[in-house]
Amino acid sequence: MKKEVRIIEVGLRDGLQNEKKNLSVPTKLQLAKRLEQAGLRWIELGAYVSPHWVPQMKDTDKIVRSHLRKNASTAQYSVLVPNQKGMERAVASGITEIAVFTAASESFTQKNINCSIRQSFERFRPVVRMAHDHNIKVRAYISTAFGCPYEGKVRASKVKTIAGKLFDIGAYEVSVGDTIGIAHPLQCEKMAQLLLKDFSAKKIAFHLHDTRGMALANIVKSLEAGIRIFDTSIGGLGGCPYAKGASGNVATEDVVNMLHAMGFTTRIDLEKLIQTSKWLQKHFDRPLNSKVAKLALA
Ligand code: HMG
Ligand code: MG
Repeated sequence: MKKEVRIIEVGLRDGLQNEKKNLSVPTKLQLAKRLEQAGLRWIELGAYVSPHWVPQMKDTDKIVRSHLRKNASTAQYSVLVPNQKGMERAVASGITEIAVFTAASESFTQKNINCSIRQSFERFRPVVRMAHDHNIKVRAYISTAFGCPYEGKVRASKVKTIAGKLFDIGAYEVSVGDTIGIAHPLQCEKMAQLLLKDFSAKKIAFHLHDTRGMALANIVKSLEAGIRIFDTSIGGLGGCPYAKGASGNVATEDVVNMLHAMGFTTRIDLEKLIQTSKWLQKHFDRPLNSKVAKLALA
């Protein structure tokens, strides 16, 4: 039997939050629909964060409500939520999954969400309680798990401790983020081995940015160590507004292409994904960061 890998598409959130060009609501809705038609079953639609902080996400409510209204839910949709205000917006929208986010380094947490790591957990508690009261699933991110733009090295043991606390407060899955694309393959292998000693592979995702071109190699070593869930972004869009120089997530189509070539199954239609990437390309004035889509356009 083929081994299955679960892909979480984060292009509409992580991708677009850091693009200079803000796509229109109809284009974002079309993108969401195309991703779903290509077989993506976990899709982040946006972020209920402060529009003062990330203006690109201010239309999230329109996207979520309109997409949920028009589409039979073959996919699990999610939005980022930083605090109670975000959670209230999430509950009102009808979404059935949210993601909370903290980091493994204090300086990044301050820059990103204006509080300490400890304070971020204080904010999460009422958010998670409210989510569970409304049957909303909670995913959680740990940013800067492999290195911080302000503090440099981050201890893997610290990441493991934070992951444990996130499970304790009720997250069903923890996504371990290489926010600035600094991780290397052996570091990913070691991180995976450390985390999978204590946590099930069904509960740990790796979220790799491709800033230094190491993301596919990182995925290979993570797979070897047992990781089976990866966050990716169509066309390799994006970055993080609070990590200077961070480029996009590893491109979904490149990951799916590699996984299928290696004998893994994703239940994603690669050809439809590439067509979506080609269509998306028309909305940007620069080439997207996807090798297989570039090949298809050549
Ligand atoms: P703050 O300024 O400390 O919050 O921000 P505040 O409570 O003082 O509120 C300030 C203003 O924001 C007020 O508006 C609030 O109403 C409003 P005003 O009265 O001035 O007009 N506000 C909100 N509006 C809408 N929705 C909300 C909300 N909360 C407050 N939820 C806060 C604190 C956490 C809100 C802010 O820092 C924030 O929104 N940060 C988000 C940053 C962000 O989105 N970063 C990118 C995502 S994380 C990422 O990319 C990493 C990841 O991909 C993994 C990886 O790669 O490592 C996940
Ligand atoms: Mg990210």
